[in-house]
Amino acid sequence: MLSNRQLFLQHLGQTSPEPMMIEIDRAEGIFLYGPGGKRYIDLVSGVSVSNIGHGNREVVSAVARQAEAHMHIMVYGEMVQAPQVGYARLLVSLLPPGLSTVFFVNSGSEAVEGAMKLARRYTGKKGIISFENAYHGSTFGAMSVQGSDVFSNAFRPLLPGVSRVKFNDRMVLNAVSSDTACVIIEPVQAEAGVIAADHEFLALLRNRCDETGTLLIFDECQTAFGRTGTMFAFEQYGVVPDILVLAKALGGGMPLGAFISSPEVMASLTVNPALGHITTFGGHPVCCAAGMAALQYLINNDTINSVKESGELFRSRLNHKLIAGIRGNGLLLAVTLTDSKYAREVVSRAPEYGLITDYFLFCCDAFRIAPPLNITNAETEEACSTLLKLLDDISSGS
Ligand SMILES: Cc1ncc(COP(=O)(O)O)c(C=O)c1O
Repeated sequence: MLSNRQLFLQHLGQTSPEPMMIEIDRAEGIFLYGPGGKRYIDLVSGVSVSNIGHGNREVVSAVARQAEAHMHIMVYGEMVQAPQVGYARLLVSLLPPGLSTVFFVNSGSEAVEGAMKLARRYTGKKGIISFENAYHGSTFGAMSVQGSDVFSNAFRPLLPGVSRVKFNDRMVLNAVSSDTACVIIEPVQAEAGVIAADHEFLALLRNRCDETGTLLIFDECQTAFGRTGTMFAFEQYGVVPDILVLAKALGGGMPLGAFISSPEVMASLTVNPALGHITTFGGHPVCCAAGMAALQYLINNDTINSVKESGELFRSRLNHKLIAGIRGNGLLLAVTLTDSKYAREVVSRAPEYGLITDYFLFCCDAFRIAPPLNITNAETEEACSTLLKLLDDISSGS
């Protein structure tokens, strides 16, 4: 009989020639468990998804309750579904007044598509500006605003009207003109290897968008909720976007995305033509129930309160001759090594040591530390001592 690993290679569409190939049976807290009980510390959180850890009982119960009540009943936007309404209300209560209308979709990529469509529709303009080394997703529109050609060149032609400019460079502000529908930016570029926007740059960008009638879109798929130490990263800048894009942790482990804007801007998707964005499963009731339970848990347990301190603990413990530096804030960290070959070795050998870490798409000399936000100090100490042992073994060639 073929093993699951063999069947995985035989029957599942693959995304890379070198998948991790780690088999996982169950997950709890910050741990993933393989067959036979092999335990891994999760330093990735499914790429910033599981920010209250795995298997949270309140989330699991919310999923079960909603599945009992009803699952899919109608395409998004027609029927009044309590999980969508309740979750939208909770989200809006955490956001500035201008961001009070939530359009639920299925994923980050779809939320980016929706946000850019909304900006074109509302402004009547065509231009879209994005940034070098940004990552916004893999559908055609989202890929068109990706900040590198590596993954998109083979799929050209891409969306017309997109210009890519340098991140954190004031000179590029002039690229934003009265023909620009929107600028899409991550306040903290995750896949670039955790590069934060400069405070002044983001404020100037906001001003330039106001001057030109351009909508400013913040993609916080990886940074919300709480990963950089505040519920949303943009709170640390005092700059509010016109459209906020969320996904990943939004679904509490289930697939969910959203773009959020003002009622006035959002209303433009309902007329001329109506049905400006159609999504069958967007805002799936079970996903909304899971996401709302997860966010409520995060709030009730004041989980974000410890994020900066946990990030500092990682930073203070990870001293090693192979480590060139640590970038980032809170629990979204890029550990840069003295050579990219060491980063490759850390990621590929970490599972042997009971750790899961990962690369960044556009930064080859670093590995990722983004564990569930409720990681304890003892768990952080264990993760760091295991990482240091792995680095020792790499540097001694063993
Ligand atoms: C910042 C950012 N935006 C958008 C996306 C796309 O999200 P999804 O994979 O859910 O389509 C990602 C995924 O990694 C992301 O990191």
